[in-house]
Order: sequence, then structure tokens, then C-alpha cells
Amino acid sequence: MEKLWNGRFAKDTSKETDLFNASIGFEQRLYPYDILGSYYHVQMLANQNIIDDSDAAAIQDGLKKVYHLIKSDSYTFKLSLEDIHMNIEAYLIDTLGETGKRLHTGRSRNDQVALDMRLYAKDVVIDQIKKLTALIETLNAIAKVHTKTIMPGFTHLQQAQPITLAHHLLAYVEKFKRDTSRLFDIYARLDEMPLGSGALASTSYPINRDFVKDALVFDRLTANSIDAVSDRDYLVEIMAAYALMAVHMSSLAEEIIIWNSQLFNFIELDDAYSTGSSIMPQKKNPDIAELVRGKSGRIIGHLSGMLVTLKGLPLAYNKDLQEDKESFFDTTDQIGNMLSMLERLLATASFNVETMYQATLKGFTEATDLADYLVKKGLPFRDCHHIIGAIVKEASDRGTTLSEMTLDAYKTHSSLFEADLYDVIDLLAIVSSRRHTGGPAPEVTAAQVGTNETWLSAQKTAAASLSSPLALLEAALK
Ligand code: ARG
Repeated sequence: MEKLWNGRFAKDTSKETDLFNASIGFEQRLYPYDILGSYYHVQMLANQNIIDDSDAAAIQDGLKKVYHLIKSDSYTFKLSLEDIHMNIEAYLIDTLGETGKRLHTGRSRNDQVALDMRLYAKDVVIDQIKKLTALIETLNAIAKVHTKTIMPGFTHLQQAQPITLAHHLLAYVEKFKRDTSRLFDIYARLDEMPLGSGALASTSYPINRDFVKDALVFDRLTANSIDAVSDRDYLVEIMAAYALMAVHMSSLAEEIIIWNSQLFNFIELDDAYSTGSSIMPQKKNPDIAELVRGKSGRIIGHLSGMLVTLKGLPLAYNKDLQEDKESFFDTTDQIGNMLSMLERLLATASFNVETMYQATLKGFTEATDLADYLVKKGLPFRDCHHIIGAIVKEASDRGTTLSEMTLDAYKTHSSLFEADLYDVIDLLAIVSSRRHTGGPAPEVTAAQVGTNETWLSAQKTAAASLSSPLALLEAALK
């Protein structure tokens, strides 16, 4: 089949040009969105008497057929037809002749691809909101059963103060909640319908942009045709939100890797989500967590690649914009896998509660509370800090813990020590005494878990109310 645009060309493009220029190899996944956009574009053309109703009906029927052919892997895409738009249009021309040639009236590939990418982005965001809330749900459920599970809180990766596993995991819940709200914000901002922008200067046909906007369930129309065909900032926003989400996931993955080390032994990963070593039989490796950490680098790289591609482009459409696809698709695929695998890894893991407790004791994490104990007895904090430092050194030299030291040993450091000091340095008492909003006290974290459960069900309702283009397509073509 000859090219759809070669009227002014005296000869064919070279093989290398076709190979270099074509995007069909990596954008086939856009086919449902391209078909959906064309379906309502052609309906609008007929409504406006720009083409005949019978032509529109035949084209819509052809779109249904090609949709099912592609879906069932029975359609062969042609590299010479360059992209998804022309591959689909060529099918209509092949099967409908003259009629098929009427589809592209009042439209350019520039506004067509802008529409396809926005539609695709909507489904991607909806899908990732679901995956992200599933991860949050799992973290929250683990927190719910571990509000009294003591573990060391760290600063500089040194045991610092006692916290609970619930408190630690709920920190990630907050990060992922913000990530979720960013995705909702982005969806709302990208919810603009670009078709009707033409190549860049709109069109003189009496089109009805509002009809297409309503049929495709967009909130608004893009307000400037030049902006609409040249802007990819909604992709940048998604990739930036994903990069930050990947950073959060990478931190959590890093902790899982550390906790899984035999030297820590805080977590037990399920065999189904671990791997072995080809040479060292004793090993059980946290490859899944390492890949979550590793892939985050690639996602951050894709974001900067996209920004550099856009930087310095003159208005309006330039073919550079075709470079948005591979990195955006790879980012969304990888983020989806990372979210799902991290959720599975956590949901199937178990925690070594006693090891975490012992690590909290061995790290002398009660020291701050012991200093506060002397402050309450009237000593200035700096003096207390000094005294407790000496006690920690003695305990460390003797290879014992603060709760194992005798009252006599304490009294050699200060006569203010009494037997009640042991109540003060009880680990559960320490975390329970921190009951401000955001603190580790079991009643505070339990309440936070409840707040998160309410939040989760609100997000599910909100996500279900977002319009999914794929669902629209299935409804239109059934
Ligand atoms: N494959 C192209 C892209 O992804 C579609 C738009 C082509 N437009 C054009 N004027 N060559 O950007």
C-alpha cells in the first residue's frame, strides 16, 4: 500500500528512513485509544453534516472490526505505514475504499496523537492508583497487627530510640498517600480534550469539539490549539510523580534488604518471593527488593530524558515528540510491576518480633528516657546526658543491657536512681509515653490505622469515579 501522505513525493522513502521514522514498533498499545478517538470523531463529522451518516456508520463498523482483529493478534502492522494512526486508517481504506478516506477530515495526526496519549495516560493513572492503594492497604494491615511490636528506630542507621513496627511502616503509608493524591491531581489536570486542534491551527470545518469531549468524558477542552499539539507536560508530571514514588519504594526496598540480612534478621521473606544463589547453597536473596531499588534508577533516568527531549523545542509539533513514548511506556510498565511485587513481597513476609526486641535492647535505645528520668528528678539535661553516657559505656564494656544493670550499679553513677527506673526504661512503656499525634504509642498508631482505612475506602470510591477510556471503548464497541 502506498503511503497516505506521498502526493508530493516523486519517489519512495528509503528502507532506512522507514525504519528510523516509524513508531509502530513501540506504540501498538495505543490502538484502543486511537480507535476510540476515531469512533467519536467520525460520529461528530456525521452529526455536523461534514460526512454522510452512511460513511460514518461504515467507518465505525470498520473500526470495530479492526479493533477485534488487533485484539486477537490477527492484524499485521506495517512498518511502511509508520504509526498506529496510519495503520488503522489504511485498514479502513483497504476495506472501505473511498469511504475510509473520509475519516481523517478535519483532523491531523498531531491532535490525534495528543488525544491518544491523554486517553492512555488516564487509564495508566487509574491503574497505578489502584496498585498504589493496594500497597498502602497491605502496609496498613501489617501495621494493624504490630502496634506493640517493638523495634529500634534508627538515625544514621544506628539504633536510636524504641519505636514499633507499626510506627515505622505507617511512615511509608504517609509517603504513599501523598503519592496517591499527586496522581489524582495529575488526572484532573490532564483531563482536557485536544482533538480539533488540527496540525496546530485548528480547522475551518464546522466541527463540534464539545461533542467529542463529552463522548470521551473529558472535563474540558484544551484552550489553545498550538499548546495542545506541542505539550507533553502531563506525561512529565506523571513521570515525575512516578520518580518520587519509585524513590519511596526504593527506600522501603532498601530497608527490606537490610532487615533480610542475616546480621539484622528482622524479616523473613516468603520462598515464593526470594531467590537462591547458584554457588552458595545457604543463601536466600532479596532479589525482588533489589530490583525495586534498581528499577527506580531507570525511572528517574526516563524523567530526565523526557525533560531534555522537550527542552528547546520550538512550537508546535516536532517529530522529537515521538520520543515521549518508549520512556513513558517503560516507566509505567515498570512502576506497575514494582508496586505489585513490593505489595506481594510485604504481604507474604513475616517479622522476627523477638529479634527486633533484642536489637532494641542491645542498642541502648532507652538512653534518652533514662536521661529524662534524671531530669524529672531535678538534674539539668546536659548533666543527665553525661551520666547516662557513662552508664551506656559501662553496660557496653560489660556486654550487658540497660535493663540488666543492677540498681547498685546505677547508684554508683547517681544517687537519684531508684527502683522505679526499670519501669521507665521498659520498652513498651517508652513507646506508650509518646502519645502525641504522629507518635509511636500503640493507641496513636491504632487510631492512625483506622484513619487510613477510612482514607483507603474514600480513595477507592474516588478512583472508581474516574472515567476509564478503555471502559468507554468496550461500551462503545460491544
Ligand atoms: N508517531 C507520531 C508521534 O508519536 C505521530 C504524529 C506524527 N505527526 C507528524 N506530523 N508526523 O508523535
